[in-house]
Amino acid sequence: MAIREIIKYPDPLLRKKASPITEFNAELKELVADMAETMYAAPGVGLAANQIGVLLQIVVIDVSPKDDKNKLIPLINPEILEGEGSVIDEEGCLSVVDYAANVERFSQIKVCARDLEGREIEFEADGWFARVIQHEVDHLNGKLFIDHLSSLKRALYKKKRKKQLLIEEQERAENND
Ligand code: NI
Repeated sequence: MAIREIIKYPDPLLRKKASPITEFNAELKELVADMAETMYAAPGVGLAANQIGVLLQIVVIDVSPKDDKNKLIPLINPEILEGEGSVIDEEGCLSVVDYAANVERFSQIKVCARDLEGREIEFEADGWFARVIQHEVDHLNGKLFIDHLSSLKRALYKKKRKKQLLIEEQERAENND
């Protein structure tokens, strides 16, 4: 297992669509183990493969309380079949640094996915779990939570991020002097 680097906005890989998994082999299990380790180390409650630069339809989720670890849910080729209701809550993302905003999501969803062995699973989710699934499935489609915000809010975040990257660049240059 290894902790992978989480890529950050505005990396173009975050905007690419992930491809479905067709082979459920040891390589997939290793990738999922790396993703889980990366997510727990961050720490986060969900991670999509795009976020470590791998364009495959894999997400890992763990919304269990902190003292109740290792309730990992890997979803391969996840798809939201149905959604109903609407709920607004604050969201953040490991790839969208230093930012959180209210996002409207379905309150209840029906999900179809494969497990690590390639078996089809179908289940219903609500609450925080449903929100995290919707957020991660968005990633697989090249979408970020900031895409759900008003264009004004998104523009403000872009500006803030640009400034942040500029400062980081200046610091790097200074350290190299
Ligand atoms: Ni995210």
